[in-house]
Amino acid sequence: MQNIQQQYFTDHKQRFLDELIALLRIPSVSAKSEHKSDMQRAAEFIVEKLTQAGADKVEIYPTAGHPIVYAEKIISPDLPTVLVYGHYDVQPPEPLELWHSPPFEPTIRTTPIHPEGAIFARGACDDKGQFYMHIKAFELMVQTQTLPCNVKFMIEGEEEVGSTHLESFVKNNKDRLQAEVILISDTSLIAKDTPSIDVSLRGLSYLEVEVTGPNRDLHSGVYGGAVENPINALCQMIASLKDENKRITIPHFYDDVIELSAEERAELNQAPFDLEAYKKDLGIDEVVGEAGYTTLERTGIRPTLDVNGIWGGYIGEGAKTVLPSKAYAKISMRLVPNQHPDKITKLFQEHFERIAPKGVKVKVTPHHGSFPAYTPTNSTAYLAASKAMEATFGKKPIPTRGGGSIPIVALFERELGLKSILLGFGLDSDGLHSPNEHYGIFNYYKGIETISLFFKYFAEMHRKE
Ligand code: BES
Ligand code: MN
Ligand code: MN
Repeated sequence: MQNIQQQYFTDHKQRFLDELIALLRIPSVSAKSEHKSDMQRAAEFIVEKLTQAGADKVEIYPTAGHPIVYAEKIISPDLPTVLVYGHYDVQPPEPLELWHSPPFEPTIRTTPIHPEGAIFARGACDDKGQFYMHIKAFELMVQTQTLPCNVKFMIEGEEEVGSTHLESFVKNNKDRLQAEVILISDTSLIAKDTPSIDVSLRGLSYLEVEVTGPNRDLHSGVYGGAVENPINALCQMIASLKDENKRITIPHFYDDVIELSAEERAELNQAPFDLEAYKKDLGIDEVVGEAGYTTLERTGIRPTLDVNGIWGGYIGEGAKTVLPSKAYAKISMRLVPNQHPDKITKLFQEHFERIAPKGVKVKVTPHHGSFPAYTPTNSTAYLAASKAMEATFGKKPIPTRGGGSIPIVALFERELGLKSILLGFGLDSDGLHSPNEHYGIFNYYKGIETISLFFKYFAEMHRKE
């Protein structure tokens, strides 16, 4: 960073952290309607901070779901524009009993990976801690009169539930959202001392299934053995969705998958990855996945299918002998470039209805989908991001393949013709979507510094183009 920026940063570092903690206190869980007013509060908090930071136009857009915060600072039509995207909604914190401190009472503790301390709270890493770095980097640049680009902010509240209402906002505001690049911090680094930039994200098809047997719950002794049990049936159906090589058995599932060349695969596998440490961290003896692929490939370039939840019958205390009427499951499929979420949803639906055993009825309800995305490593924006990370980490970042999904990335590309740079600073071990989610203070500050440098390099490289 430039000296003047460094001075401002040193003087305001503590406040930067305190503000994030205040934001983390707001339980902005998008999935639950009881948090509707918290969502509004979080949006208002962001508006206030963007205004104080120096944005010229700051607005809340109500949607049929949760509000979108939009802000901009246009300093010159001759300068490139960076559109920052982030999400202020968080995943539900349950199961609460597994948290060592309450999810919405941010607490700083040290961990072996974060000896400088980490903030424990739902959303600390995904994504409040990460998008807030952009607001602070923006403040730093504006207040030191070193902002080298025009900036637009679009911070939404429905990412964790599929970004349903953002699509129409983007379609209806194409002119307003014009930019040279989209910058997103919502992904992970390989490690604190091993910077990386995700160049792809997987897509998603998410659905729910309901299996119905008899028209009411039955005595499992009186009827058991003669009437199909929907939970047994559902388990059999789910078990049949992968073969012994862990390949998905839905016909035509792999038809559109792009296979990487041997060179691309070799390059991907050069990224540092410690399988023993990975297994140890997760408390597992073996990794399991599609035959013929490494762990990095299984999560980065291969599609997969997982049950996210399954229920039915009696799950209360003690025993109840019952042959239930219904069984349910939530199922997600992660998709890779060229797979179409709607097509996959349809293939699943047809297949699942076809394999239903006699004696049960099956209903499949689609939830949300997301397209996979890919970013090339030769764009000005990628090179600027790479240079910024190299400056702050002392090492060139490694291009990596992210296993998660950010629905808006493919939509931005389709609607605005813009690629996103995934300049993430979290760690996979930060517990995103898990109990005890946290974000390293080191990562937070490193992110603010790197983002400020990205703006500098992007403006410089853009001028030379
Ligand atoms: N930030 C994550 C996605 C992510 C995490 C990508 C780590 C790469 C590395 C995002 O908030 C997320 O959780 N997305 C959901 C998408 C969804 C609910 C439509 C996901 O991936 O499950
Ligand atoms: Mn996220
Ligand atoms: Mn998430």
